[in-house]
Amino acid sequence: MTALRHSFIAGIGHYVPSRVVTNAELEPLMNTSDAWIQERTGIQERRWFEEGKDTTANMAANAARKALNMAGLAPNDVQLIVFATLSPDYFFPGSGVLLQRELGITNNCPALDVRNQCSGFVYGLSVADQFVRTGMYDTVLVVGSEIHSSGLDKSPEGRGVSVIFGDGAGAVILRPSTIEGQGILSTHLHSQGEYAEELIVKEPGSNRDNRVQNILDNKADLYPYMNGQNVFKHAVVRFPQVIKEALDQNGMQPADIDMLIPHQANLRITQYVQHKMGLSDDKVFSNIQRYGNTTAASVPLALSEAVQEGKIKRGDLVCLAAFGSGFTWASALIKW
Ligand code: UT7
Repeated sequence: MTALRHSFIAGIGHYVPSRVVTNAELEPLMNTSDAWIQERTGIQERRWFEEGKDTTANMAANAARKALNMAGLAPNDVQLIVFATLSPDYFFPGSGVLLQRELGITNNCPALDVRNQCSGFVYGLSVADQFVRTGMYDTVLVVGSEIHSSGLDKSPEGRGVSVIFGDGAGAVILRPSTIEGQGILSTHLHSQGEYAEELIVKEPGSNRDNRVQNILDNKADLYPYMNGQNVFKHAVVRFPQVIKEALDQNGMQPADIDMLIPHQANLRITQYVQHKMGLSDDKVFSNIQRYGNTTAASVPLALSEAVQEGKIKRGDLVCLAAFGSGFTWASALIKW
């Protein structure tokens, strides 16, 4: 086993379904309006999956292939898969093994499934980072992939939640850093279970006598429930807190951040965090306008686009931050 070392992002990629769903398309379904959605969330459109084409696992595979390609690696080089999603293909097994199969990985590498909703990718990145740091693995694939659109209440009753979420996937390859000071500097994970029911999909829960009958009797509980105002209230506190925690641990200031990649929860939350941290517009990346909130996929999807658009360059200080259901929240500070 080698001494502790840094991991770095050697490759990154994303995939979104081709079907664009505008706010205008939701108006007749949900008694909503483009103006309401844009004013409250900043979202203009999102992607919805195509049945028979997109799955949570194959969207992850599409993103992973791009990440592998950028890293100059083949699928069988992957030594660990970490898969973050709240919308797995099956109740069990988790989507990690499906991704392994989809990529044609035949080396029997472990596939770990992470259930931390909007914070899932940053949690997964932290897990992967620990494995690389200790020397147990050299090549770890971390993905966030979500299909929300098949599970949303698309009637007026569901409008408070359903206008927000979208489908997509993002992936990174972690490798040991060969450059001194480059890579993931630290990760910070938190949760507060007292708020578990504030953003929840309750069914199919296991703790009922007859689970299947219970689902048939309580179909509404298969849809997401969100106490939006309370989630908002906690998000605007936890985001700055966990970003500051990462900076403090590394002896840095907000002014040192070159690019903040926040979980794309709501543009208003991002703007609040930006203001609170004193960051200029060019130091905060947002693509929620085009994709909505893709929960575990949102951070790698945003990071991947920022890289693709040339907004992050070698040596930049990049901060990832997330908050969501659980409540869970997390950050990662990366010297790119
Ligand atoms: O990624 C996980 C973390 N999630 C979040 O961070 C989400 C945090 N929360 C939010 O972003 C906001 O709470 C929402 C965008 C979800 C909702 O905004 P809000 O300002 O908190 O709205 P509200 O739920 O308090 O509803 C205000 C009004 C209500 O009407 P009345 O009672 O004032 O007449 C709602 O019925 O807006 C109505 N409303 C809508 N109207 C049109 C709720 N949803 C819609 C809609 N279209 N889609």
